[in-house]
Order: sequence, then C-alpha cells, then structure tokens
Amino acid sequence: MARKTLWNALRVFVLASLLQATGLHATYVDPKVLDACPGYSASNVKSNGAVLTADLSLNGQGCNVFGQDIKRLGLTVTYETDTRIHVKIVDANATRYEVPEAVFPRPAANGHVSPHAAAIQFNYTASPFSFTIYRTASREVLFSTASHPLIFEPQYLRVKTSLPDNANIYGLGEHTHPFHLPTDNTTLTLWSRDAYSIPVGTNLYGNHPVYFEHRTTGTHGVFLLNSDGMDIKITNSGGTSLEYNVIGGVLDFYFLAGSTTDPTAVARQYAEVVGTPAEVPYWSFGLHQCRFGYKNYIDVAGVITNYSAAGIPLETMWTDIDYMDRRRIFTLDPSYFPLKRMREIVDYLHAHDQRYIVMTDPAIAVTEPSENYGAYERAVKADVLLKGPDGNATLGVVWPGVTVYPDWFHPKTNEYWNNEFAMFYSPENGLNIDGAWIDMNEPASFCNLPCTDPFQQAKDQGLPPKRTDPIPDPNAPIFVNSSSVRLVKRDDFLNPPYAINNAAGLISSHTAFTNSKHANGLIEYDTHNLYGTMMSSATHKAMLARRPGKRTFVITRSTFAGAGREVGKWLGDNISLWTQYRFSIAGMLGFATIYQIPMVGSDICGFGGDTTENLCARWAMLGAFYPFMRNHNQDTSISQEFYRWASVTKAAKNVLDIRYRLLDYVYTAFHQAHLDGTPVLHPMWFKYPKDTNTYPIDLQFFYGDSILVSPVTADDSTSVTFYLPQDIFYDFATLAPVRGTGGPVTLNNVSFTEIPLHIRGGAVLPLRAQSAMTTTELRKRDFEFVVAPGTDGSASGQLYIDDGESITPPSAMDVKMVFKNRRLTVQGNFGFQAGVKTSRVRFLGVAKAPKHVQLNGKMLAQAAYAYDATKQVLDVTVGLPLTGPFTLQYD
Ligand code: GLC
Repeated sequence: MARKTLWNALRVFVLASLLQATGLHATYVDPKVLDACPGYSASNVKSNGAVLTADLSLNGQGCNVFGQDIKRLGLTVTYETDTRIHVKIVDANATRYEVPEAVFPRPAANGHVSPHAAAIQFNYTASPFSFTIYRTASREVLFSTASHPLIFEPQYLRVKTSLPDNANIYGLGEHTHPFHLPTDNTTLTLWSRDAYSIPVGTNLYGNHPVYFEHRTTGTHGVFLLNSDGMDIKITNSGGTSLEYNVIGGVLDFYFLAGSTTDPTAVARQYAEVVGTPAEVPYWSFGLHQCRFGYKNYIDVAGVITNYSAAGIPLETMWTDIDYMDRRRIFTLDPSYFPLKRMREIVDYLHAHDQRYIVMTDPAIAVTEPSENYGAYERAVKADVLLKGPDGNATLGVVWPGVTVYPDWFHPKTNEYWNNEFAMFYSPENGLNIDGAWIDMNEPASFCNLPCTDPFQQAKDQGLPPKRTDPIPDPNAPIFVNSSSVRLVKRDDFLNPPYAINNAAGLISSHTAFTNSKHANGLIEYDTHNLYGTMMSSATHKAMLARRPGKRTFVITRSTFAGAGREVGKWLGDNISLWTQYRFSIAGMLGFATIYQIPMVGSDICGFGGDTTENLCARWAMLGAFYPFMRNHNQDTSISQEFYRWASVTKAAKNVLDIRYRLLDYVYTAFHQAHLDGTPVLHPMWFKYPKDTNTYPIDLQFFYGDSILVSPVTADDSTSVTFYLPQDIFYDFATLAPVRGTGGPVTLNNVSFTEIPLHIRGGAVLPLRAQSAMTTTELRKRDFEFVVAPGTDGSASGQLYIDDGESITPPSAMDVKMVFKNRRLTVQGNFGFQAGVKTSRVRFLGVAKAPKHVQLNGKMLAQAAYAYDATKQVLDVTVGLPLTGPFTLQYD
C-alpha cells in the first residue's frame, strides 16, 4: 500500500514537471494519481455550533496537476436549517468568481440551527483534510471525501465522494440518459451547448449541478452552486464514486437531508435553495402548435383553421424565426409575414380565446447603418453588447448571419430588452404575443473555430437564406383553408488546462468566445452557463412590463439552477425516433422532479427527421402528460400537425379530452409546487420508496400525485409491459379496480389511440365533467370528483382555482376532499367564484350496491345514483354549486 502511494506520488511529480517544462497541460490524469495528491490540512478550527470555520493549508508542494495548487483555503460550514448544511471552500487570500447574487439569490438560512437539531451532520478529518456528511439519527454516511484529497487550483477543482455500490443517482443534467444514472464510467459534462439531436451522454443546453441519491434508508440531495464548466464522473471502478472536476469558481455545496420516508421532501428542500417554480397561466396547459418552416401567414392561419376543422383543441399557435425579416429579431418579413396580416391572425386567435407566441433569439444581426436595423443600432448606442478582450463586441454567426450578443450583466441591458419588447410586441400596434419563446441562448454560434472571419463563415453557410417561395397575395383573405489523453496549449479562458468533455470541442466552440468580458468585469468563461437564465430573467421582466400583475409564460432552451422561478423550458432539438420518444420521459422527470422547472416538455412527434403516423400518435398521447404540451418540428421535416393523420387526430382528441378534464388537478399541483416545491410529476420511486423495483423505472411516471402514466414505448407496438407496485389502482378508462402485485403487467392490443392510465388508490381527483375546445371554455365546465380509495379505504385530494392569470389573485378557492368511512367531505376556502357546479361524484371500488346515499345528511332518491357492480363504481348526481362545503355518504 505504502509502495503504491509512493509510486503515485512519483507519478504526480513527474507529470507536473513534464507539464511545466513543456507549457502544456493534460486534460486527463489517472484518478489514482489524483488520489495520491497530498491535499490540505485543517487548522484554526472554530465553531460556534451553527457555523464552523477553518483554514486549509496545502500539504507540501501539492500536486499541481492543472496549474499551481492554491496554498491557503478557507472553509465555512453552516447549519442553515435543520435539513441543510452549507459547505463552502474558497481561496483564503484572493477573491474568486462566485455565481452572482443577482442571478442566484442565496437562500434564507432560518437564523442558523444548532447541529444537534439538524437531521444531517458535518464531520471532518484534519489531515489530509476530508469531510463527511451523515444522518444524525442513523449515522449513515451520505457523502465522504475520505481517501480522495481535495484539489484546488486556479482552473481546476476536484472533490470526490465514495458512494454505496451501484448507487441510485438522479439529476446532474441536462443530458440524455436514463433517469436512473448509469454508474459505470459516466461523465456528465455541464456546459451549455446548442445540441442538435440531443445525443446520449453529451452536454446539452442546461446546467443543474444537483443530484438526489435514493437508498432504501432515505433520499438526500447534493447541490454544487457553481456555474463554471465541469465534468462529473460517476464510476464503479474500485467502489462506486462521484467526482467533480470543475474549471473555476469556488466549492459551494448545499447538502440536503431529504427524508428517510418521503423522497419528495428533498425536492422541497432543494426548492428552499433555488426557489420554487413560477405560477403559470391556466391557458398555458392547453395544446401548443409550432413548427420551423411555416412559410407565410397563410400557412399559419391554415394550421389554426385546420385544427378547428379537425375538432382538436388548439390553445396556442406559435411561429418560429420564419416570421422575421432576414431572421433578424424584432422584425417582421414585410412580404411573407406583414404586420397587418399578422395582427389579423393575433386578433382572430384572441377573439377565439386562443393565444399566440413567437420566437425571440438573443443574437442581434450586425448591420450597416444604412439598413436602419433599430434593434442593432440601439444595442450599440446603449453599449449593452458582450465584448471581447479588445473592447469590441464579440461576434458570432447565428440565423441572420453575423451577430452580436446582449451582455445581460450590463446595467442597461434589461432596459434595452424591455424597450425592444415593448415596441415590437406592442399590443396597440405591434405583435401582441401572449408568451415568449427564447432559444439559442447557450448562447449558440455557428461560427467554427478559430472563427477569425465570421463574415466569410456566414456567407459560406448561406446565412440568412434567401426566400424564394411565392409571395402571398396581400389582399387574399387568410382564414379560408387549412475521454482520451490530450495535451493542449494553455490559454486561460479559451483553452483551460483541464478540458471538460464538451461535445462541441473547445469551450468556445459554437458559442460566444469565453474570453468575452461582461460589463461588470466577469468573464464569459465563468458565466457561460448562466447566459440562458439571464436572458430568461430579462424576458420574464419584459413580458411582465407589458402586462403588469399578470403571470408570464416564457419557454427557454438554456437554463441554470433556479431558472424555474421565472420560466419554463423545452427539451430542445430531439429527433423523430422511438428512442427519443422514450428518453423524453427521463428528460422531463429531471426538470419536473429535481431541477424545479416543472413547465417542461419535449417537441412532440420529434423535431428533426420525419415522424411516422404511429410514432406521432403515441407521442401525442405521451405528450398530453408533459406539463408543457407542444408539437414542434424542423423546417426540413414533413408536416406533423395532429390533424395530418386520422389515427393521430383520434389519439390527440382522446388524450386532450383527458388532459383538459384533469387540468385543474394539475393546476392545483402547480400551485402546490409554487408554494413549497412539491414536484408536479413523480418518478415511481417517489411514491414507493422502499420498493427497489421502482428505482430504475423511467418509462412510467405519475402525472400529479396519482395518475400513473404507462405509455406503450416499444417501436410500433400495441403491447406494453409495465410495473404495478403492491397497491390498489383503478383503470382510468373503466374505473374498475386493478390490484398491483409488485410485478409486471402486460397489456396487449393497446391501439394507437389509447394510453394506459391508472389512478393510484388513495386519491380524490377533481375532474371537469367535460372537456372543451379552449381552456377559457373549460373553466365554465362543471366538476366531478372521482373517489379512488386506497388499501385502507380512505382517500384525499385537493382543488385550487383562481383567476388563472394574476400573480396575486384577488381570490382563490382552495378546498380539500377527504374520504373516510364511506363519507366524502369537500371543504375549505371557497373564496373564488368558479361559477360552476359539482355535477356528480364517482365512488370507485364500491364492493356492493349501497342501501342509502346522503347528501349533506339528506337521503337522496334512488334516481340520483347508479351502481355498476362489474366495475364497482357508484355514481351519484350532486348538482350543487361549487360555492361551499358538502358531504356525501353511502352505506
Ligand atoms: C433551434 C431550436 C428549434 C428552432 C430552431 C429555429 O434549433 O431549438 O426549436 O425551431 O432553432 O429557430
């Protein structure tokens, strides 16, 4: 053992000398070598109970693997709440980059708590310094850096924890992976990337350095607040471990105790750190239709008409960059999308209780003054552009050709953005949009490195493309029809010594140059991963300014931890493939259950490539259980609106009927998420934490608390085998009870217009009695309550309704439904007048016909209820206005 350590120490020395002599830096070092680094020693340890501080001094000369080890570090450990410990390690002598407060406000700390009161504890070993986090009650270790010395260099930080064998780890996105992360040599790279086709295992658009680890003994969470590029490596070699390799910033960990019984507790604790999700408008749960490649306003109007002709509810029509003049943001193509006709479309939509959303990219086209492109001229004048080290605006190549990027850190950028939104999206004389779609905010660039002549590159790429389609007749009416070893030359901000595993190559590849400097002095190198979230925030504010007091609806592609406080997110450029249909569930669960961005969904039927009828039908049905339900595809793909095929039309209608009837149920779940971070969707293990069979499941999930969605997932198949835990369920279509045995269930002959759904026993669901063509109409429909008792015979649920649009609604209805001893009680706050009735109550799992049914203590006539012995369903007509409490009992 001692010989081995000596040998590794020698390897460190040889490697460091070699690298220093050549001026080159390695991007990969054998983990054993890193484990042989001497690390730090803790001294001057002071503790007042809630806060512990210590000095960490480098042992010997350190190991200098990717730069010189920093000699003195400062450690601060704070017991911030009884379930949260904050561990922060910084350079003791110099200020280093930290995620700015303005982008990520630090969590309130409840006045700090005494360690004795905390559910988890911090413990350390002085030399070499290592620490553990363990559960107070059981002493179970959750995180331990023992035997993995800390490495802290200017551009390389390394922390490694041992984990239980084949640990159940979820999170660390954004990436395409099974929800239950593979522990066998998995590298998760966090570096925002404009990723076409979202390949498995590569870094994608968003960055969420947080994981939940689940054990039969409990669930906990670990969040590293750091926006620099990083590789997080999970491996099984020599025991399972998780290793952070970060290229800047500081170590800023939040350890969340979670719970030993309820996995959703850790989600709420994470929400205490990153903030709870924004409340969204009611209408945003309606169906959204989009595509890249609608050629002109007639095309757009045709889609709106065709949806209505097909009888498929369409809530929101979207338009991609096609509407822009030469793809310049804040412009309209005067021939293909002229303002007058566009305003006609928006007015038409609004008159039919429908909505309109268009794309806004961050990159602004560079133009000549003679072109009078206001958005560019004003950005230059206000000096709000991201700049290179030479003080000139950083150039990229995006859809319109050569572009510049707003610097969100500039004090005037929000004002600039607000102003552009106010003018271009003016309700009075502009494009009166209802929500915003923001994209390419990694930020993306098509310029290939070294990108010395972006103008030539834009030309070579034919950007912006010339429009050759026939120009529509301006007078025609529109609503008539339808890791290897690499040595690289060191350059601090463009080419750091430790090269993260960025699928785009160098960190400046296909994005803004990472040596760009923000107005506040920060370097894009450190803040790259925040760009999309900062644009989100500015856009949220700009939308809020247009409609003060109203909730905004902003959908972004790039996100950082905490983005959900203001915006929702779609999962980017997937492909019309069955594999990507399947992966969409894991992708969505990451955002909805871990990252606190529940308004999430994938492009339904797939973005790239051509979809097929079967795939689109299945995807339409799965997509009805994405919180954000949007059909969208690429300009080069075939049309895929749901009305294009008979089976897809039927599938979409069936499932939208269900989605809309369940809309208030999911709206209630969103409200709860907004209050305390309780997830809107649940992986199966959230509900069955002791059932180890559920841990890897990511082809089934709970929509809200109690609708189990088990889609058919095999290619072109009509059968599905799914898992039902030992519990009582009810088939959503027939309402008949189904006993789960803790084993597989196979359904054959599931047509391409059906999706298997089950109600988990123990729920009282509030459903609209009927669906509608718009959410505005839906809000006028009566309610019916479905009472699905659990194995103990009881059930409960909740219903929250407000005006569906105000940030602070003037009134709200917030009622609880409780079923016990064959008696349903609906009571609570009926402040909001929904103007609807409770039309009926459906009791499930009723073993025999009731003798009596009483509403508010009064016996009902037999005609008011009906019992179906085969399905064990008792239907009771109620017909009371939903304005006050009531009880309904049978015996
Ligand atoms: C990006 C977006 C995609 C959009 C396209 C054109 O690829 O991810 O959704 O259609 O840009 O704007």
